[in-house]
Amino acid sequence: MASNAVSYRDEYQRSMSDPDGFWLQAAQAVDWVVPPTQAHNKEDSPRGRWFADGELNTCYNALDRHVAAGRGDQPALIHDSAMEGTQKMYSYAELTEQVSRFAGVLRAQGVGKGDRVLIYLPMIPEAAIAMLATARLGAIHSVVFGGFAASELAVRIQDAGPKVVVTTSGGLEPNRHVEYLPTVAEALTKAGVPELPVIIKHRNGFTSDPQALGLTVVDWEAALAVAEPAAPVPVNATDPLYVLYTSGTTGAPKGVVRDNGGHAVALLWTMANHYDIGPGDVWWTASDVGWVVGHSYIVYGPLLAGATTVMYEGKPVGTPDAGAFWRVIEQHQVKALFTAPTALRAIRKMDPEAELLQKYDVGSLQTLFTAGERLDTDTYLWAGKVLGVPVVDHWWQTETGWAIVGNPRGLEPLPLKAGSPTVPMPGFDLRIVDGGGVDVATGEEGNIVLGLPLPPGTLPTLWNDDQRFINSYLSAFEGCYVTGDSGYQDEDGYVFVMGRTDDVINVAGHRLSTGAIEQVLGTHPAVAECAVIGIADALKGQKAVGFVVLKSGVSLAPADLQTELVALVRREIGPVADFKTAVVVDALPKTRSGKILRKTMRQIADGDDYTVPSTIEDPAVIEALLPVLSART
Ligand code: COA
Ligand code: AMP
Repeated sequence: MASNAVSYRDEYQRSMSDPDGFWLQAAQAVDWVVPPTQAHNKEDSPRGRWFADGELNTCYNALDRHVAAGRGDQPALIHDSAMEGTQKMYSYAELTEQVSRFAGVLRAQGVGKGDRVLIYLPMIPEAAIAMLATARLGAIHSVVFGGFAASELAVRIQDAGPKVVVTTSGGLEPNRHVEYLPTVAEALTKAGVPELPVIIKHRNGFTSDPQALGLTVVDWEAALAVAEPAAPVPVNATDPLYVLYTSGTTGAPKGVVRDNGGHAVALLWTMANHYDIGPGDVWWTASDVGWVVGHSYIVYGPLLAGATTVMYEGKPVGTPDAGAFWRVIEQHQVKALFTAPTALRAIRKMDPEAELLQKYDVGSLQTLFTAGERLDTDTYLWAGKVLGVPVVDHWWQTETGWAIVGNPRGLEPLPLKAGSPTVPMPGFDLRIVDGGGVDVATGEEGNIVLGLPLPPGTLPTLWNDDQRFINSYLSAFEGCYVTGDSGYQDEDGYVFVMGRTDDVINVAGHRLSTGAIEQVLGTHPAVAECAVIGIADALKGQKAVGFVVLKSGVSLAPADLQTELVALVRREIGPVADFKTAVVVDALPKTRSGKILRKTMRQIADGDDYTVPSTIEDPAVIEALLPVLSART
């Protein structure tokens, strides 16, 4: 436990009984331009806003203030590319200088406070530089994951309305070079803004010609060479820092808004109290800046805390082998690693006895954190055994930006229980309720909801669509935010998260909407109707499988149709959907009101207990599907 010997229980209780006092105290870890005098603004009930009269600059807090504190020479960011076999270190002074100059580049493109900057970059240092430079100007970034296709990029460009796009020639995947520029050009055209300036970081090994693609090119290096460094611009605590799109239950992604003040306060609290990471510690999150985990814990969290963040371009296996993670830990003396269970399963599959671990000294590692998907007990036990450090699951989502349920290692390390991410974090009034909003008994599964207000750092709204925010999250249960996950709490208050209650699935820690995939399948001329469900997968947690009913008279062979549908999803959503299987069926099981019984289909496919709802329209349909579904696992 930390030297001040405050217990988790005391801190949690204090956050519930005196949230203003709790969070104003936490806010002292931030360097404010104008310190907030109030924490939660109740006038805007029930959701409220945090630190409404405070002013700050997030980039200043992540960079300049560490230089001002005399730690300019300390490594801020270590970029390790297993794809290129290179490593590059930026000290806090160097990163501040690069970011200030790139902020000057953005300003020269007319970007100012409140403007949006769309960032479509792989795991290269320029991704962090572009994010921080945007924040420096008080502008709002929206990062899009490289595994999305042009249509998905276009939807995000259309919704965010950026002044400029920041991208690169391409990304490196183990089996191929991913050319970014044709995707960007197609997306801009689809979004109706083909002339938008595109700042391009040139990378060797890519062939697309931006001029030939009709892009309005600003060359990163040339622009940087003549840029005037920009100073941090103060913003209100409630001004947005970023918009990050995530999958909802429909095809249209949700633009989760993160504000500046609450975000900085919450992330600083987590770095110290949850992850036990402080100035000078080396911290590695093996994710991607395209996801919330990358936003919070590759870029902002560790830099706000003055730690050294490792940014890794590579995979857990195959780049070159299943020892890649151990090599990075040894080489950069990583104190704590945060990764997705899928990555650990991939390593275990290739190297079950962790023989490659013997080649490296991973003695610097004190804790392994996992999130993004449920940590299954086998993986938890295996990782703990081979690494000999605590394996700490925690549960959260894009919307919250930091852990709802976790094990606060810096505050008070609590005993670990397999299958549970431990207990609610301060500020999260977690309840498990039945369909009518009534608390269920201890040990009983129900909807996991959070009493309002949510703590600082969580989403205040959805970009351009406050009504969707209310409808999606606040309408089902009075005074509560709906997480979309179900679970239960045991007699010790430990939370067990069992899975989504909606049509969101999780493939290799990547959040996907089955509705979005269905929408794409439905555009194929042979498809009359379809259902996509997430089926358990030993490596990736879940995989998306499509069940399609053909239009009458169509005589396309099932194998050919599958090939076409797989290609269609890849083209429209992107390789990240990892959609490989489409099965032709005669009919889909439905209720009498026409709702497809996706949950029952999934339960059958996963071999779980199931009850066919009494409202089923035609029980023979599900009977006919049984062998097809059971063959999926
Ligand atoms: N840009 C372009 N394509 C991408 C991409 C990116 N940034 N990221 C993934 N893809 C592609 C892959 O190349 C692959 O394409 P393919 O169908 O041509 O092979 C497809 O998307 C699926 O990728 P992925 O899910 O990474 O599967 P994989 O089979 O290539 O690798 C693992 C398996 C386990 C190694 C990988 O899934 C992994 O590292 N998982 C951990 C992910 C993670 O950290 N998630 C946490 C998010 S918080
Ligand atoms: P994302 O918004 O992409 O971070 O995905 C959030 C969703 O992933 C959650 O709502 C959960 O369904 C799932 N998830 C994330 N972390 C965990 C975890 N530790 N255990 C179980 N599910 C998780």
